[in-house]
Amino acid sequence: MKVLVTGSAGFIGSAMVLRLLERGDTVIGIDNHNDYYDPALKEARLARFSGHPNYTHLRIDLADRQAIDACFETYKPQRVVNLAAQAGVRYSIENPLAYIDSNIVGFAHILEGCRHHGVEYLVYASSSSVYGANTAMPFSIHQNVDHPLSLYAASKKANELMAHTYSHLYGLSTTGLRFFTVYGPWGRPDMALFKFTKAILEGKPIQVFNHGKHRRDFTYIDDIVEGVIRVLDQPAQPNPNWRGDAPDPGTSMAPWRVYNIGNNRPVELMDYIAALEKALGKTAERELLPLQAGDVPDTYADVDDLVEQFHYKPSTAVEEGIGRFVAWFLDYAK
Ligand SMILES: NC(=O)c1ccc[n+]([C@@H]2O[C@H](COP(=O)([O-])OP(=O)(O)OC[C@H]3O[C@@H](n4cnc5c(N)ncnc54)[C@H](O)[C@@H]3O)[C@@H](O)[C@H]2O)c1
Repeated sequence: MKVLVTGSAGFIGSAMVLRLLERGDTVIGIDNHNDYYDPALKEARLARFSGHPNYTHLRIDLADRQAIDACFETYKPQRVVNLAAQAGVRYSIENPLAYIDSNIVGFAHILEGCRHHGVEYLVYASSSSVYGANTAMPFSIHQNVDHPLSLYAASKKANELMAHTYSHLYGLSTTGLRFFTVYGPWGRPDMALFKFTKAILEGKPIQVFNHGKHRRDFTYIDDIVEGVIRVLDQPAQPNPNWRGDAPDPGTSMAPWRVYNIGNNRPVELMDYIAALEKALGKTAERELLPLQAGDVPDTYADVDDLVEQFHYKPSTAVEEGIGRFVAWFLDYAK
């Protein structure tokens, strides 16, 4: 298969490209290498596969309409995995317009590219943050998600809505994947695990928001990649039982779907930190702080639909995943 992967120098994108190349697919990767976090890490991730004969890298921006259109025209991908985005809940308060450029304008360019160049299937990253103010746990794709708490969350929900219109109008098969706090080797320096590990090793205090009381459905990177692969191999189909007079938010009369990919086993932040301390063999000095603006207190994924459709469910325990992250971090820090 010829697959276009956007965000290919990113945490999840680079892991996804590696998996696709390993199984023999041809991959075109797009990334703008922005400096939201250290671009050297993006280069290092890319160096793992940039010389592969079946990989082509394009250093372009999703917001660049001509460049994105030319990419579709030249490479004619059969399937697209859109993982490029401005990520992060907290940064969306500091720099909201970055989310409009990459996640709204950029995503529209991807949809247009798919529409005009015969792409058969688009899989794109959504986020657990779309559940916003919802508190019914576990979070189900069949619940309404109309109360986002950050512009990041709103941009991800907007992607799901934009994709629906293309699935309906042009028959483009699309699936949105709501990832739940992804962690593991080659992870992001703006996320808790990376920041905590660095601080603990440097003997500095770690900032623990919401006094460590929130629970997250931490999901290991390899489990996410396995989930995306399975979804990518099975284009979304219309739900024949969908009814407009009782609309199910998680399916459609169009070839459009959304799924949660989460560990289905939420862990309290303090327990996550304890697992990290154990892996590092060092104790953290904790600075307890209130919940940050835009953050949700708890996340917990209902993955029944993923299990039913793809016979798959993430399974890596946090102790194991954190151990693998620490081993990678110590090696990378060298
Ligand atoms: N990591 C998580 O916990 C998590 C959770 C939920 C959803 N997501 C979503 O998954 C996707 C991948 O996340 P990640 O953790 O790998 O983040 P990441 O920041 O490591 O990867 C995103 C990549 O996209 C690139 N990019 C950003 N804007 C771009 C643009 N306009 N044009 C071209 N490239 C651009 C960045 O340079 C980066 O390399 C994102 O859509 C993110 O919102 C991630």
